[in-house]
Amino acid sequence: MDQQRKHVSDTPSPAGELEAAPERDGMTCKDSMRYGSQQLDGHSPTAALDARVLLSHVLRKDEAWLIAHDSEIIEVDHSIRYAELLARRRRGEPVAHITGSREFWSLQLAVSPSVLIPRPETELLVELALRRIPADADWRIADLGTGSGAVALAIAIERPRCQVIATDRSHGALQLAKRNARELGIGNVAFVAGSWCLPLAALGFELIVSNPPYVADDDPHLREGDLVYEPPLALRAGPSGLDALAVIAAQAREILTAPGWLLVEHGFGQQSTVAKLLTEAGGRDILCHRDHAGLPRVTECRLCAADPKEA
Ligand SMILES: C[S@@+](CC[C@H](N)C(=O)[O-])C[C@H]1O[C@@H](n2cnc3c(N)ncnc32)[C@H](O)[C@@H]1O
Repeated sequence: MDQQRKHVSDTPSPAGELEAAPERDGMTCKDSMRYGSQQLDGHSPTAALDARVLLSHVLRKDEAWLIAHDSEIIEVDHSIRYAELLARRRRGEPVAHITGSREFWSLQLAVSPSVLIPRPETELLVELALRRIPADADWRIADLGTGSGAVALAIAIERPRCQVIATDRSHGALQLAKRNARELGIGNVAFVAGSWCLPLAALGFELIVSNPPYVADDDPHLREGDLVYEPPLALRAGPSGLDALAVIAAQAREILTAPGWLLVEHGFGQQSTVAKLLTEAGGRDILCHRDHAGLPRVTECRLCAADPKEA
């Protein structure tokens, strides 16, 4: 064996059923990443990245380590485990379900089939909310449809004096969000079961954020990629995809107090209808923001119970 190459020693993973096993003897990290990328080519639009994430998960090393140690030899049991995970990915299972986690706003979050896998574009919602919340504010903030808790936890950690209260109708999601808060040691967040603003009716909030479901029921994307594995409750919102956004726009003013910010994520192409819904609900200063891909993604407005609704 090449003396420059060392074995990666780590806790052995439990052996499982072997599928599509590669030639394993003497595979280096670099060979394994190349092999994994080839295996996933045509099965994933992000084959090389997926292979890196899965190898890093098996070895329990971060991706920077893999690149810095690309000539290390992988132990056979790790290679077997890696081949199993590649086979699951080839069958379409999302990487985040295979590894059980996804990074969002630099927080490592547990994810499961009960929740939407947090998307990078949703970081725009967090970024815009933080622009509105002064660093020393002690506001009460609502996150409607919290899923894994991604948005609520990101805001709570950035604004430790605020109290974030998050709702969801899915008990599986709430359990996972609570686990994420506990494991990350974030204490200024609470999770309540119920539909949108209804469980919050007795409270006042300076700001509401929401990334609700906004995919139309017959959208063909629901039959593709990760969406096939995610809960319909997190994705589908009626014939136009606007059912949830319409309810949130109508309910939000009842629980907002000054300055009364509402920020919602939506699909591109929905921005003018969302603006109309917010105007009808009494929203002012309506502004739509684009994501990094240049697509209209988040609309914000000011809305208070005292404001008149459009006639
Ligand atoms: C698109 S996911 C967003 C999850 C998370 N906020 C994120 O950005 O990753 C929408 C969430 O809304 C929840 N949801 C659907 N209908 C709801 C309702 N009527 N009331 C509260 N939450 C609801 C779903 O369970 C799901 O967790």
